[in-house]
Amino acid sequence: MCGIVGYIGPKEAYPILIKGLHRLEYRGYDSAGIALLQNGEIKLYKCKGKVSDLEAFASGKNTSGTVGIGHTRWATHGPPNDINAHPHYSMSEELVIIHNGIIENYATLKEGLNKRGYVFKSDTDTEVLAHLIEDIQNKEQVPLEEAVRLALNEVIGAYAIVILSKKEPQKLIAAKKGSPMVIGIGNDEFYIASDATPIVEHTRNVVYLDDEEIAIAEPGKELKIKTVKNLEITPYIQQLQLELELLEKGGYDHFMLKEIFEQPRSIRDSLRGRMDPNTGRISMAGIIDFENKFIQAPRIIIIGCGTSWHAGLVGEYLIEELARIPVEVEYASEFRYRNPIITENDIVIAISQSGETADTLAAIQLAKQKGATIFGICNVVGSSIARATHAGAYTHAGPEIGVASTKAFTAQVSVLALIALALGHKKGNLTEQTYHKLLTELDRIPDLVSEVLKTENKIREISQIFKDARNFLYLGRGFNFPVALEGALKLKEISYIHAEGYPAAEMKHGPIALIDEEMPVVVIANRNTSYEKIVSNIQEVKARGGKLIAIVTCGDTEVRKMADYCIEIPEVEEALSPLITVIPLQLLSYHIAVLRGCNVDQPRNLAKSVTVE
Ligand code: G6P
Repeated sequence: MCGIVGYIGPKEAYPILIKGLHRLEYRGYDSAGIALLQNGEIKLYKCKGKVSDLEAFASGKNTSGTVGIGHTRWATHGPPNDINAHPHYSMSEELVIIHNGIIENYATLKEGLNKRGYVFKSDTDTEVLAHLIEDIQNKEQVPLEEAVRLALNEVIGAYAIVILSKKEPQKLIAAKKGSPMVIGIGNDEFYIASDATPIVEHTRNVVYLDDEEIAIAEPGKELKIKTVKNLEITPYIQQLQLELELLEKGGYDHFMLKEIFEQPRSIRDSLRGRMDPNTGRISMAGIIDFENKFIQAPRIIIIGCGTSWHAGLVGEYLIEELARIPVEVEYASEFRYRNPIITENDIVIAISQSGETADTLAAIQLAKQKGATIFGICNVVGSSIARATHAGAYTHAGPEIGVASTKAFTAQVSVLALIALALGHKKGNLTEQTYHKLLTELDRIPDLVSEVLKTENKIREISQIFKDARNFLYLGRGFNFPVALEGALKLKEISYIHAEGYPAAEMKHGPIALIDEEMPVVVIANRNTSYEKIVSNIQEVKARGGKLIAIVTCGDTEVRKMADYCIEIPEVEEALSPLITVIPLQLLSYHIAVLRGCNVDQPRNLAKSVTVE
């Protein structure tokens, strides 16, 4: 969480930093700030609120300068206010720092600094770093990069930092551990950012910093990298493969809507080159390399958080059904702290859109230490999780900017479906006929998603009717139980309506008590093996006066008789139906949130990349 950006070179820094901060705003948006070097002095503009508030604040003021750093914050230590906004000055105000992460031993460090006369203005852990670096510089009389290195040796926790000092105005120092950091190399200039999105329009040559690496960016010189332990590292320059138009709204009102509508393409991209329904071939390098391990695995453990955890649940149904390998799905945050039993034969599949989620990353490290093979399903190329795994498959959904995850979910499920099919086929669990039928169906999914997207107007009308509801219940069974969870999560996240997802049959063990005429109940009731059962559950809801919104298969008559509102989706193979049934739920939450006047792309208190525990 928190977005950081830096620029040093011949151009005006302010426009580059502001644009970069807008791109990174998905990482946090409760305050923002910028520091610029102007005639040897550091000028600081920072305030509570979004990057647009910062722009308004800085408007009309002097924003010149060709060296600068910027930050958009998701608060951890101290409330979101002007003072806690980054950048933070050191005591002498000779250097400024921006930080993403948490300094766990900040209290101890702060105590020591207090005793040495340092005064703290903010409640942040970051200010500790600013003072500490300055303290070391004063004591040791070393260059800035060496003071940073020595300071980082005293720090426990996660950080991505950039430091600008007026004593050494020709350089920016960046370092990272546990939080991401990319450095773009231009002509006599450097761009620094939490991800590549602020960099891509300026240069495609980038270096991803590894943990405990410190970069010294000095125009006119090669990028220098050394470790916290003082080892020189040769920078590995990569070419960015990111399409710029994917970072813009492209005519849509919100990124979330754009991303919902991108799904026919993003699902196609996640399958592209990996399967051929004509020959029946599935080729995923990550799976081929570890095929025997997968097939012989006594079980697969899937870990993730939020929407990625829901995709993992669908993965459990898919892999158990098609490949007959036992699967357990765990919240990464629970898994990492409960001393789980992991053996060397286990396969752990870690799912993460951002590839940066702190709990998922820590769970991977734990499973790795215990000898398990780790397979990653990530969207962001080059992300920390992608690099921490033994093998993996990118989802290729393209950048997801709306905080509520949509296209990442369907891309994750598509990849999981491919894995389940590949393993089921290899193990001989699937007849050739079933295998080919499912592969052909998977190939058809993007077209089916396009069909479902045509229901948007109907969904907008339904949203109008229910936008003021205070609670929602989402019900589904089997493969669509995780979709009910995901539908409820989407609504909560962006419209702030309380919603619960439940397995339809479990409803009678609790949630049924909540049902009355005020309670909208969304039921996923497409034609599948539990259709008759779900019809009974619908009757139970109707008998108690609940308002029913049903997702049904085109031509359905039975549920239609009971439901207050129906959204029709095309007929689809049950195992792949989550890829279709989730679409109307995404649209429903989107339209309800818009009608309630909520900030869809930046819901309160949330951030897209959760790099703290
Ligand atoms: C945050 C986001 C969710 C996301 C979850 C896991 O809560 O707001 O949209 O599902 O983190 O993130 P990951 O990047 O690991 O999939």
